[in-house]
Amino acid sequence: MDEQNSRYGEVYRAWQRDPESWWAEAASGISWRKTWDRVFDPMIGPYGAWFPGAMLNTSENCLDRHVAAGRGGQLALVWDSPLAGRIARFTYAELTARVARVAGALAALGVSRGDRVVIYMPMVPESAITMLACARIGAVHSLVFGGFAAAELAARIADAKPRVIVAASCGLEPGRVVAYQPILDAALALSPHQPEACLILQREMAPAVLTPGRDHDFLTAEAGANPADPVPVLATDPLYILYTSGTTGRPKGVVRDHGGHAVALHRSMGMVYGVGAGDVFWAASDVGWVVGHSYIVYAPLLAGRTTIMYEGKPVGTPDAGAFGRVIAAHGVKALFTAPTAMRAIKQQDPEAKRFTSHDLSRFEALFLAGERCDPPTAEWAAAKLGRPVIDHWWQTETGWAITAGFRGLGLFPFKPGSGGRPSPGYDLQALDEAGVVLGRGVSGSLAVRLPLPPGAAPTLWRNEDGFRDAYLRDFPGWYRTGDAGMIDTDGDVWVMGRTDDIINTAGHRLSTGAMEEVLASHPDVAECAVIGAQDALKGQVPLGLVVLKAGVNRPLDEISAELVQLVRERIGPVASFKAALVVPRLPKTRSGKILRAAIRRLADGEPANPPPTIEDPAALDDIAAALQSR
Ligand code: COA
Ligand code: AMP
Repeated sequence: MDEQNSRYGEVYRAWQRDPESWWAEAASGISWRKTWDRVFDPMIGPYGAWFPGAMLNTSENCLDRHVAAGRGGQLALVWDSPLAGRIARFTYAELTARVARVAGALAALGVSRGDRVVIYMPMVPESAITMLACARIGAVHSLVFGGFAAAELAARIADAKPRVIVAASCGLEPGRVVAYQPILDAALALSPHQPEACLILQREMAPAVLTPGRDHDFLTAEAGANPADPVPVLATDPLYILYTSGTTGRPKGVVRDHGGHAVALHRSMGMVYGVGAGDVFWAASDVGWVVGHSYIVYAPLLAGRTTIMYEGKPVGTPDAGAFGRVIAAHGVKALFTAPTAMRAIKQQDPEAKRFTSHDLSRFEALFLAGERCDPPTAEWAAAKLGRPVIDHWWQTETGWAITAGFRGLGLFPFKPGSGGRPSPGYDLQALDEAGVVLGRGVSGSLAVRLPLPPGAAPTLWRNEDGFRDAYLRDFPGWYRTGDAGMIDTDGDVWVMGRTDDIINTAGHRLSTGAMEEVLASHPDVAECAVIGAQDALKGQVPLGLVVLKAGVNRPLDEISAELVQLVRERIGPVASFKAALVVPRLPKTRSGKILRAAIRRLADGEPANPPPTIEDPAALDDIAAALQSR
């Protein structure tokens, strides 16, 4: 669709002219119990708050109001699990009834408005049901991804201080059952904070042994509970906390509020994805990530669509045609996934024959995000699937797209490698190091002029100073995204990579700093560096380089294997940390800073291009030799 025929420019300019009126109009898509005092108050929190004084209930907006409008019989959630060999369907009426009972079960355990509930569940309907049940009674959920180790779960429990933990007995990965109970028990042994109770969803593949006095069976508690009515909460109250990687081992607790979140996500379903009421939308992500929160659970339900929850992989469950099967089976109109998934399919089925052997007649568009999409993958997907491929860029912090192709506004130019145009709500610019706005085509730090729009994080959990330090300090008046890139002469945004030590592995956001902390804790390691090296499937994978303490003369393979195991134990399998190379020294500047960028370039087969301040250029030869002998 070309520029002239699209409404994007007109809509973006309308937002620019009068942001508050624009968002007030968007807010009419939400049912409020009480309207706001002001659309935006710049005096609340680190940069302001949207819809202060207003009251609503997010679960009521996702469920009850659709039932009340006569759409109770429409499908709300379809669970498709090739790993469990099951498909389950829930209408809006059925989902509302289950959510109300689980909310009642939580209330019976003493959970009320403002209490936190940690959810440690895989891709089962009960994870979405529990999220919505928390929202129904005003409790704040914090869902933890199943691929993290006990220490990461413990860090989240310690910070969120939940009254109750809701967990499943296991998750399913191809070829293995991941028992959650040992991980939960180990996390609770590590955490200084203990919940009052745990609700455990028993899955038959690996039932848990319940701890008397602490654990309750999820389904029994649900069956015995009185359904809970939606509790009105303030628009500015927290809906959830989602922990994400920062630059250290300590994850950041990104907070989402009720009101702005509901308004922005509701608006995005039509504007960005172009799917209407009753359409089937599928985000092939995990509920443990922001994509799962926003586009498996909240946005499609806020907007009355049918959402798909898929417990499987793009390949291997059973083959590279899995996505085509799901699209055909449930009539999916738009699919949202990570470029890694497309690369995995492309590797196993270069002509996409298995994918396209299914009935794709209702499938209209493919949306990609989570990591930069390399142009060959975007071009391959567009050619093989014969549908628009739309890249969009966002972060856990923003909760929805900062830039996108706007299918609902008729603007989705295919420019492989670009993330599209800024969403209405985002005044995005590339800045130089002094915070000066750069011209078109010039690369810099991508930053959003404050305030952030509704839906974006208002703060970090009980850590406003941390929010200011991480995002607002470097460029006063702006939100620093942490991504580098440029805006071209057409206004399209090119996001080229992080400016900090965060890497993206298979669309998962990881901190190399956190991995360095783990490696440094090994008794034989004197110093270390972890970089993100290019990977044909996962985009980037972490690579560790360690210098051993003087006098250590154990076999290097043994030490490397211990380091790989240590990262798996402390951070989790999701880190995909498979290589730790022992090197005699690390290249540094004269002031002692490790030259990670030069190491990364070497690992990617490029010239190291060290800065002139390098202390000992020969150290790079040692790295090159170690990389060669891998
Ligand atoms: N629970 C427990 N373990 C998990 C897990 C979970 N929820 N998710 C991943 N893991 C484990 C995997 O089993 C694997 O373990 P292993 O080292 O024992 O093999 C490890 O974490 C790495 O997982 P992953 O990075 O997913 O690699 P993979 O080789 O298993 O699968 C792909 C490769 C491409 C199929 C997979 O990465 C994928 O589907 N990517 C799509 C990306 C995506 O959806 N991103 C979400 C953000 S939008
Ligand atoms: P997360 O918070 O896990 O969603 O990860 C956010 C980070 O992923 C961003 O800061 C980017 O570095 C990267 N990212 C997400 N989507 C894209 C995209 N479409 N293009 C480039 N990078 C992306």
